[in-house]
Amino acid sequence: MLLKKTKLALVALVSVALIGSTVPASQAAATNKQLEIFTWWASGGEFAGLNEMIKLYKKQNPNTKFINAAVAGAAGTNAKGVLVSRMQANNPPDTFQSHAGAELTSYVKAGQVQDLTFLYKQEGWDKVFPAGLIKTLTVGGKIYSVPVNIHRANVLWWSPASAAKAGITSAPATIAEFKTDLAKFKAAGFDGIALAGNGDWAIAHLFDQILLADLGTAGYVGLFNGKTKWDSAGVATAAKDLSDILAYGNSSKTLDWPDAGDMVVKAKTAGFFVMGDWASSQWESEGFKPGVDYAWAAAPGTSKNYMWLSDSFTLPKGAPDKDAAIAWLKLCGSLAGQDAFNPKKGSIAVRTDSNAKLYDSYLQSAMKDWHKLDTSAGSIVHGVMGNNAFMAAYDSAVGKFYQAGAPASGTSSFLKDLVAAYATGQAA
Ligand code: GAL
Repeated sequence: MLLKKTKLALVALVSVALIGSTVPASQAAATNKQLEIFTWWASGGEFAGLNEMIKLYKKQNPNTKFINAAVAGAAGTNAKGVLVSRMQANNPPDTFQSHAGAELTSYVKAGQVQDLTFLYKQEGWDKVFPAGLIKTLTVGGKIYSVPVNIHRANVLWWSPASAAKAGITSAPATIAEFKTDLAKFKAAGFDGIALAGNGDWAIAHLFDQILLADLGTAGYVGLFNGKTKWDSAGVATAAKDLSDILAYGNSSKTLDWPDAGDMVVKAKTAGFFVMGDWASSQWESEGFKPGVDYAWAAAPGTSKNYMWLSDSFTLPKGAPDKDAAIAWLKLCGSLAGQDAFNPKKGSIAVRTDSNAKLYDSYLQSAMKDWHKLDTSAGSIVHGVMGNNAFMAAYDSAVGKFYQAGAPASGTSSFLKDLVAAYATGQAA
């Protein structure tokens, strides 16, 4: 009886093996392959850029199932929350988006991402990515992510038609000129500035620009090496300027950035917009034309700077499908990948051999600026300067000030919150 059972079991095993062997090895492996990619690029110009890379990836990896796990909105504030809980639950995606700089360092310090130095050697990226940028992806001699782009944060946008109505003939070069022009917009019936209050970060993004204008490059960089105190006179001036500028904003405090941008270019109810250059690709995805429907200049007082940020992709520890992730990372660093992604995303390629002809007039002007301007001031809100703990505290300090109506009388408690935010970052 026992023997019979064993024989039966053996027959069953052999037939499973035989059935199994009728599936070609390549196909068998294919069914197990899948890439889950985690970003906050869910719609508009952001998704248009990502989608170009998805199309290429699918072409290059036809047997890999593609899972787009984007969490929409708020420049990643929502996505980062979800990512934290997934990492804590040991459920990482195969790759996730991280900004170059201190933000990436947060993941490295937490032991959540893997060393990718070997890919740089293998793909020759050390020769085609700027050395300065690679430095911001390196911790302890190891490189931890693959950058797909360079964005510019310090851009002022407006509609030439609205500016003409308000009698504004050139871009404001200083914070003082900015305030004068905000008043001109207001007198002509516009909200002076479009504000995206959803998630605090866009107001903090505006504050980044004011800090740079008021402190200068060295003073701004000094905020992160202890040389500039967060309650110094320069920061107090910036806080007062923020209070003055916010007073010209729209009353709704809950718009996401594409809606705020639409107030300037589509509805034409607001005058200026201070936003990174992803605004341009968003408007293009809605059918508007750079140089016609919208114009741009450096944010007031920051024309010597290219306040940069870079989106990069990581290989998390415990990524379920490492090979699928590495194929994605190779695409991110490739010329084909970067020149497909960036013209739609509204950013410039990291690679120095990128083909400028594929890019629109705004991006071609950005490329020229990238080569000639000072890049030592990176974006605070988008990860370059301070770690994740600092960024969360900084955004909420600015958000608290804004939600309270940003009164001039509230600047001293705002400065206290900024000092505390810096301490939080230092302690992390
Ligand atoms: C930034 C990101 C950009 C863009 C923007 C708005 O943090 O680096 O690529 O997505 O948020 O969502």
